Amino acid sequence: MDFETKVIHGGIQNDPATGAVVPAIYQTSTYRQQELGGDAPYEYTRGENPTRFAVESVMAALENGKHGFAFSSGMAAVHAVMTLLHSGDHLIMGNDVYGGTFRLVNSILNELGITYTAVDTADTDAIEAAMQENTKMVYLETPSNPLLHVTDIAAATKVAHAHNALAVVDNTFASPYNQTPLDLGADIVMASGTKYLGGHSDTISGFVVTSDDAVADQIKLIQLSIGAVLSPQESFLIQRSLKTLALRVERHNENAMALAEWLNNHEKVQKVYYPGLPGTPDYEIAKEQMRGFGGMMSIELQDGLDTKKFVENLHVFQLAESLGGVESLIEVPAVMTHASIPREVRLENGIKDELVRISVGIENIEDLKQDLAQGLDAL
Ligand SMILES: Cc1ncc(COP(=O)(O)O)c(C=O)c1O
Repeated sequence: MDFETKVIHGGIQNDPATGAVVPAIYQTSTYRQQELGGDAPYEYTRGENPTRFAVESVMAALENGKHGFAFSSGMAAVHAVMTLLHSGDHLIMGNDVYGGTFRLVNSILNELGITYTAVDTADTDAIEAAMQENTKMVYLETPSNPLLHVTDIAAATKVAHAHNALAVVDNTFASPYNQTPLDLGADIVMASGTKYLGGHSDTISGFVVTSDDAVADQIKLIQLSIGAVLSPQESFLIQRSLKTLALRVERHNENAMALAEWLNNHEKVQKVYYPGLPGTPDYEIAKEQMRGFGGMMSIELQDGLDTKKFVENLHVFQLAESLGGVESLIEVPAVMTHASIPREVRLENGIKDELVRISVGIENIEDLKQDLAQGLDAL
């Protein structure tokens, strides 16, 4: 099945008990047992829930993996993956990963004795140079947040595997419609389902998918033991949203490409970060490993223009954190999504105070252009 069919028919899409064409919401915490000490398939919803199993199976199908796991947030999914690491282990990750991921590694895991090196993962030599004897994981975010840098997943994975480290990809920005990292050799793909997978800015969720049985056993144990599972209601909502993922992402891709080209030629815009614009190494890799370039971009206005005034004066684009919903959002990473990264680290990694990040929605493209045009004209 191709992707557009898999979102409708992949994994468990009917209710096995009744044949209902839509999976039922099994809103239960526990299950009646037929015998004491028997081997019941369902015991307690933290461990087993049919609605969660259904969305997990669809996500596994969409990412071309064997095992899917649903969590209560993207951060819970990141945490589950990083719980594969132990005290004394070393992690290599991108130097412009999502601020919450950086905070987890820098403030929580570091305290537990897990060290890290943050590098530009688009530079495969930098990954190689950062390798230590105890490096157990290479964590990639591509395209990255907020600079939309693209890492060559196959090349980075090769380096990781040469050192017996796991290659993990945060696929939040691309979504499995645009990119399937397991096909490029990655061991684990994870995502914040809050973004494109949910797609309507109304749920928080996270997913992990792998084809490695041993890794899957460990993630299952972590999911059960830590308990940050996705609820039956939210599982249902995500599965419902996934059915339109292909349609939505196709439009996100189209709108973002058109806006990126238009902004790139606008006199008040100094720089556009979008992997679909030719002329950068990001573009060269993206066109090889992605089906579409995605709905995310960042821009820098010309020096001296008032970023605050610009983002506050838009009408269609809403000033808000998050991304991947049907509605267009705009934000300033330095003040909002990436405020948890110390300023000097942020600047060193190229995230300027004035950088503006845009999540392009699926509205009419002319309305989106007009809104940005009036915002820029007012400066
Ligand atoms: C790339 C990326 N990974 C992970 C997360 C964390 O996801 P959540 O907010 O669902 O916990 C985010 C959130 O913005 C993100 O952008």
